[in-house]
Amino acid sequence: MDTRPIGVFDSGMGGLTAVRQMLQLLPGEDIVYFGDTGRVPYGGRSVETIVRYARQDVAFLRGFDLKAIVIACGTVSTTALHLLNSENAIPILGVVQPAANAAAKATRTGNIGVIGTKATIRSGAYETSIRTLLPTARLTAKACPLLVPLVEDGRVRRGDPVTERVVAEYLAPVKAAGVDTLVLGCTHYPLLRDVISDYMGVGVTLIDTGEQAALAAAELLGGQNKLNDPGRTGERRYYASDSAEDFAATASLYLGSDISGMVERVAIENY
Ligand code: DGL
Repeated sequence: MDTRPIGVFDSGMGGLTAVRQMLQLLPGEDIVYFGDTGRVPYGGRSVETIVRYARQDVAFLRGFDLKAIVIACGTVSTTALHLLNSENAIPILGVVQPAANAAAKATRTGNIGVIGTKATIRSGAYETSIRTLLPTARLTAKACPLLVPLVEDGRVRRGDPVTERVVAEYLAPVKAAGVDTLVLGCTHYPLLRDVISDYMGVGVTLIDTGEQAALAAAELLGGQNKLNDPGRTGERRYYASDSAEDFAATASLYLGSDISGMVERVAIENY
């Protein structure tokens, strides 16, 4: 057993889709979450900037004595995972491989869609991982840059005309390609699941990257006998680089439990 906490980070709220799942799967684990809400979105930035931000996020989390870090961010996973792993002596997991495994398993026709930020789609990382598992896969990838700001603003509900319009515009070519599986390659997107699912139709399986990252963390740490007793109640701490109150208000909605008073602000540029 390893009682140290698990660190989780994202550019903002998206990584909470991994935390939400970890709270169910790993109730005994202590979790330290960092959301870089002062600098979100990452996905339209250069590789150099994303790497610099990711290094600072990891440096902040390494201030805690952690047993592992989950990069609950598609953009950082596709852009900086290998670098961060080479620079740190603790396990660091990304979302790409777990999501690619799930997509390869879920598809019946081999016709798979991938949506993500500009940086993620530019990297081609999901496509490469899926093709390694399923060489005959037909892939349709689409960058959806406006979805992260909509989620950060809480505009995730069915019936929101702006969100529905933006989702329809981005997903039209993916739907036209006839995919049977869609990788939500950014951890913010599962928060738009209802709107995306309504547009794509019930026959399309949505792969939730946050959920898959949480499952991969549980499998890795379980396999190494590093999980806490699931009978204990884990401690959770949340940090954000912009207003703690704003983070707490939106995060409470997404987590389904009130975390006000549990969030601290971090000056991430000092790391
Ligand atoms: N949740 C991040 C991701 O998975 C959002 C990136 C961004 O800030 O643009 O890609």
